[in-house]
Amino acid sequence: MSGQVTPQVRRAAEVGPRETPQFGELLRWHRMRRGATQRQLADLSTISVRAIRDLELGKAHRPRRDTVHLIADGLGLTGQERNHFEKAAGGAGPELKLSYAAGPVSPPAPMDALVGREAEVTMLGDLLGAGNLRLVTVTGLPGVGKSRVALEIAGFLHREHRLPVLWSSASDQSAASRDTGSDPVSELVALALERPAVAAAGTALAELRGLVGDRLTLLVMDGYEQANVDADALSGLLRHCGRLRVLITARTPFQLPGEREFPLEPLAVPHRRADRDPAELARVGSVQLLTRCIGRTGFRLTAVNSPAVAEVCRLLDGMPAPLQVAASWFMVCSPETLLQYLRDDPFAFVGPELGDAGRSELSALADDERALLARLCAVDGCWSIADAVRLSSLAPAACARLVRRLLMRGVVRTAPEPGPGGFVVLELIKLLHADRPAGVPYLRDEATV
Ligand SMILES: Nc1ncnc2c1ncn2[C@@H]1O[C@H](COP(=O)(O)OP(=O)(O)OP(=O)(O)O)[C@@H](O)[C@H]1O
Ligand SMILES: [Mg+2]
Repeated sequence: MSGQVTPQVRRAAEVGPRETPQFGELLRWHRMRRGATQRQLADLSTISVRAIRDLELGKAHRPRRDTVHLIADGLGLTGQERNHFEKAAGGAGPELKLSYAAGPVSPPAPMDALVGREAEVTMLGDLLGAGNLRLVTVTGLPGVGKSRVALEIAGFLHREHRLPVLWSSASDQSAASRDTGSDPVSELVALALERPAVAAAGTALAELRGLVGDRLTLLVMDGYEQANVDADALSGLLRHCGRLRVLITARTPFQLPGEREFPLEPLAVPHRRADRDPAELARVGSVQLLTRCIGRTGFRLTAVNSPAVAEVCRLLDGMPAPLQVAASWFMVCSPETLLQYLRDDPFAFVGPELGDAGRSELSALADDERALLARLCAVDGCWSIADAVRLSSLAPAACARLVRRLLMRGVVRTAPEPGPGGFVVLELIKLLHADRPAGVPYLRDEATV
């Protein structure tokens, strides 16, 4: 839609609609932002000029649903803006009308029991519930279990501390779920906090602030990424709602004032000396998850299959999502056969996503991180900071700082063997490093250490 952009139009577009506009005002604002006259919009939407004028003037309050669709088409509205526009036409103004009395204040129910993670849930739950912590970001590789842990923490806070929980999933904002109608909390949070801001952001933020007020509340932002969130709006929300706690799951931290980053490691993997002891193996988190997900009836850990099961868990680094996929192969493979296949080509069996996640993590590393990681990939088994210092010839503080960054990024984890100070590089990362195609410097080991 083209048309001359008058100063009035430009000002309308810059300022945005007032905080709680009526539908007519919103319609006018969208039309003017596009530089269209009422006549032009009428032609584009096949709605009469008079009907558009009456709507803009507030003379017609409840337009028919198909009229609203046609106008939204004519305005070229999509996504959040369209959603909001259509809601505003519902006759109640653009407010989503969430309230603690009527709205969903408990977290979604988990589909199955949590394995392990007692320490993480208790610590973060206590800090968010009774402590002073107001903003926590749980980070880690895709499939490590961030959302599942957040679900458990939210459930714990709801149960033990009677906190209302506003749960917002970034994935609920996908085009598909928008078409089928997403959940109102996710929609409100996305409208209020996502970047780039849409016209309705100010209204949505005001509603979110009003909804939370000074109540002790947990807001979970699941799967949001720093690049897509308006940091100022989120900080402002935290400042305005003094008793709000925010729990985010994301690949990387948001780096906001007061934020506590919590890198989530994969589930515990067995150490080798337990390989022939089914009872001890059955207490290890990754083994518990794997065996629980095996659909085959009658499968049980034995002294014979235990070494292969333990090795599968180690090969997949105790990562829940790949372990779940691996479990499905037990329908057709023995543990020993599956292990063989996984050793040859794990991505063919657990899906390419794991490799993609590892590659994207490696390509995001800084040169000094890559250089150190490359040396650590050559170590068989676990290593300490002193080993890393020796291998890299870096000063201890500089080396320890790099190790901490690698740990935060999820490419290194604490060693399964007992004892302090031990770390390992994830098997996945070692594999990608060893298999990198010639000329692709995932890890440039020679240059910078
Ligand atoms: N401790 C656990 N106990 C039981 N199931 C788990 C556990 N951790 C993760 N899972 C399951 O593993 C799968 C992947 O976990 P989840 O979706 O939480 O990962 P994520 O880190 O949020 O991944 P993404 O970055 O892709 O969002 C899910 O099906 C989840 O229910
Ligand atoms: Mg998730």
